[in-house]
Amino acid sequence: MVATLEFENGDQMPILGLGTWKSSPGDVYKAVKTAIAAGYRHIDCAHIYGNEAEIGRALSESFSEGIVTREQMWITSKLWNDSHAPENVRPALEETLVNLQLDYLDLYLIHWPVAMKKGASFPLTAEKLVSPEVLPILITWSEMEVLADEGLCRHIGVSNFSTAKLQDLLENARLKPEMNQIELHPYLQQPTMLDFCQANTIYLTAYSPLGSSDRPDSLKADDEPVLLENSTIVAIAKQHGVTPAQVLISWAIHRGTAVIPKSVNPARIQQNLAAADLSLTPADIQAIAALDLNRRYVSGDFWQVEGGPYTLAALWDM
Ligand SMILES: NC(=O)c1ccc[n+]([C@@H]2O[C@H](COP(=O)([O-])OP(=O)(O)OC[C@H]3O[C@@H](n4cnc5c(N)ncnc54)[C@H](OP(=O)(O)O)[C@@H]3O)[C@@H](O)[C@H]2O)c1
Repeated sequence: MVATLEFENGDQMPILGLGTWKSSPGDVYKAVKTAIAAGYRHIDCAHIYGNEAEIGRALSESFSEGIVTREQMWITSKLWNDSHAPENVRPALEETLVNLQLDYLDLYLIHWPVAMKKGASFPLTAEKLVSPEVLPILITWSEMEVLADEGLCRHIGVSNFSTAKLQDLLENARLKPEMNQIELHPYLQQPTMLDFCQANTIYLTAYSPLGSSDRPDSLKADDEPVLLENSTIVAIAKQHGVTPAQVLISWAIHRGTAVIPKSVNPARIQQNLAAADLSLTPADIQAIAALDLNRRYVSGDFWQVEGGPYTLAALWDM
C-alpha cells in the first residue's frame, strides 16, 4: 500500500510515483499502462521530456477502460525554461494539458530557476539565456499563482530550488510553493533542505533516486560512483531479500519525501512499487546516513555557459 502526502487542502499525493525522463515515446506508453495496472497512481511528467502526448494516450485509455479514474491519479508536470515570460506560462500549461489529454494537473512545477528565450534549444549559448534580473522568478511565479487560482493546476511548486530561493518565494509570493522537486539519494542527502522544508511545510520529491544511470553520457562525470552498486546498499538489500533499488526507494519514503523512480521495464516497474512495503530498520537508516557525499548526478553545470548569467554557485546558492 502506497502512503500519501497530504496537502493543506486535503489532497493526497501518493508518495511513490513513476518518473518519465528519458522514457522514449513508444516505451513510455507501455510503461504508464503497466504502472497504472500494477497500482501506481502518480506519474511525474515534464514538457521537455518530449513524451507527454504518449503519456496522455496511456492515461486516456486507462480512464476509458475503467482501470482508474482521473480523480484517483496524481499527475505532475513542469514549466520549461523557455516559457518563464508571463505571456508564455499559461500557453505552456495549456499545451501540456492538451498533450496529456487532461483538464487539470494535480501539480505544476517551475522546472528550473533558469530562464531561456522562447524556443531556445541546446547547445546553449549566453544569448539564449535570460538573466534573473531581467526576468525574476517571482514574475513567473505570479503567473503560476493565477493558474492555480483558476484550477488549471491544483497545486504549484518548484524544482531545483535552493533554500535561499524558496525563502525568497516564501517572503514575497502570494501563494507559497507546496513542493520542491530535487535530486535526493544517499549520496546527496541534503539534510539542511529537508529541515528547511519540514519547518515551512513544503514537501520534497526525490528525483534520480536510483542514481539516474541512463542519463546521456554528456551529463556524466568520468569518476561517478554507482549508487545501485554501493556495498552498504547491496548488503542491506541482501539482509531484507530485496534489491538495491528497493532499498533506495524505501529510504526516500522513510524520510517523508515523495520518490519517482523511472523505469520502462515491466518487472522493474512492479519491483519499484513493491518497495513501498519494505521497512528499513533504524540500523539500516543509520548506515545509509553515513553514505552522504553531497554529490549531484544532475549537477546543473549545463546552465553555466561562457558569458551567460547563470553560475553553479548562484544556481545552488552555495
Ligand atoms: N525536476 C528535475 O529537474 C528532474 C531531474 C531528473 C529527474 N527527474 C524526474 O525523476 C525521475 C527519476 O530520475 P531519473 O530518471 O533521473 O533516474 P532514476 O530513477 O534514478 O534511474 C533510472 C534508471 O534506473 C533504472 N532502473 C529503474 N528501476 C530499476 C531497478 N529496480 N533496478 C535497477 N535499475 C532500475 C532505469 O532503467 P529501466 O528504465 O530500463 O528500468 C534507468 O536506467 C525522472 O524520470 C523524472 O521524472 C526530474
